[in-house]
Amino acid sequence: MSAPKTYHVKSFGCQMNVYDGERMGELLAADGMTAVGQDDADLVVLNTCHIRDRATHRVYSEIGALRREDGSKPMVALAGCVAQAEGEAARSRTKDIDIVVGPQAYHRLGELVTQAAAGRRAIDTSMPAASKFDALPARRKSGPSAFLSVQEGCDKFCTYCVVPYTRGAEISRPFEAVMDEARALIDSGAVELTLLGQNVNAWGDEAQGLHHLIAALDKLPGLARIRYTTSHPNDMAEGLIAAHRDVEKLMPYLHLPVQSGSDRILKAMNRSHSRDSYLRLIDRVRAARPDIALSGDFITGFPGETEDDFAQSLTIVDEACYSAAFSFAYSSRPGTPAATMPDHVDPATGLERLHRLQAAIAARQHAFNRASVGKTCQILIERRGKLPGQWLGKSPWLQSVHVIGDHAIGDLIDVTLVAAGPNSLTGERILAKAA
Ligand code: SAH
Ligand code: SF4
Ligand code: F3S
Repeated sequence: MSAPKTYHVKSFGCQMNVYDGERMGELLAADGMTAVGQDDADLVVLNTCHIRDRATHRVYSEIGALRREDGSKPMVALAGCVAQAEGEAARSRTKDIDIVVGPQAYHRLGELVTQAAAGRRAIDTSMPAASKFDALPARRKSGPSAFLSVQEGCDKFCTYCVVPYTRGAEISRPFEAVMDEARALIDSGAVELTLLGQNVNAWGDEAQGLHHLIAALDKLPGLARIRYTTSHPNDMAEGLIAAHRDVEKLMPYLHLPVQSGSDRILKAMNRSHSRDSYLRLIDRVRAARPDIALSGDFITGFPGETEDDFAQSLTIVDEACYSAAFSFAYSSRPGTPAATMPDHVDPATGLERLHRLQAAIAARQHAFNRASVGKTCQILIERRGKLPGQWLGKSPWLQSVHVIGDHAIGDLIDVTLVAAGPNSLTGERILAKAA
């Protein structure tokens, strides 16, 4: 196989994977390769997700689909969490994989490409202690809203979840490294930064928590908005809650997964918070920032979940007053403790509960959007809308807002929210008053 000159990176899964995918692309570009569409690429990187059974299965059909009409195929790199979980075994499932590289080893992608081109074994799923970030090229390009990974890995070991195995132990990037990357992203056009981590609120450097980092970012000229995701309820420190009151650039939005409303199920999940401690925590967050938009994650049909347990997930949707939430039917993952628990719920029941939960969440989201009508706020324009002259931006509460006018991507404009649908709102630009 000859050395590839063009590449295409396709990412699945969470925002951390999107970030990693961007960085892999930057690395290949720094090695002199050119980004092209998937059908034209000499090298295709599939940056995969292992979180649910379906996500993993999809990878193998994606690989099959890379075969071209003349029977040829590009060089294929399996990256991300499936690569980490399956390692060498992935290559025994299909001969079409040339490179296997885990989420903590992708700074070595360039070398692995060279090895594969020379017909050598190209696999790295190590989790080196030294930070991969130091080995990556500096940031030079950014849209108005950029992701910045500050924390990786997870030590929580929720009994259903593969992340502690695919991403490894919790680590935090050093304060200065994060600040340097933030400055580079702002210089490249970012006005909004979303700090990422599997447990981003566990970030810490020399006993300084995430709110210290947020306070320092707040002072960077050119940066207008700060967000962070995903947070674990147990790492929601007082200082971080207070930051929602004190730091103007910190957006009034918090993604705080709960997973279930039933204490019995939360215990079996090893979530180490209860329904009540979760609700009291969000009371404290709302006391600091009354208009905060709260979102969450839920799993339905966890082993042993009864109709009564599920009813408590439904009621917590209303009690927590979510602005949005993500929900998933339980998927049994090999190697996790929940996979061998008794009383697995029939998948059809898990799905039926998922649909009821999603209806409750949708109703909450629509109510939250309706309650926003009449408010004024800034929106950050992210892309064009479908109609002529229409643009799509994000409100501080992470709602999609349509607005008509003469705008550009990256503009921050003042609007009044005038109408609300289930998934988006309409804004009208507030024109500066003539002096
Ligand atoms: N670190 C984050 C995100 C983890 S993965 C957190 O703790 O919230 C994102 C979501 O996927 C989880 O919040 C959970 O709701 C869901 N999830 C994880 N494992 C799952 C499984 N085995 N089956 C179904 N959903 C799962
Ligand atoms: Fe998975 Fe739980 Fe860690 Fe989130 S906190 S990544 S759900 S183990
Ligand atoms: Fe998926 Fe890995 Fe993210 S399993 S959700 S890509 S951490």
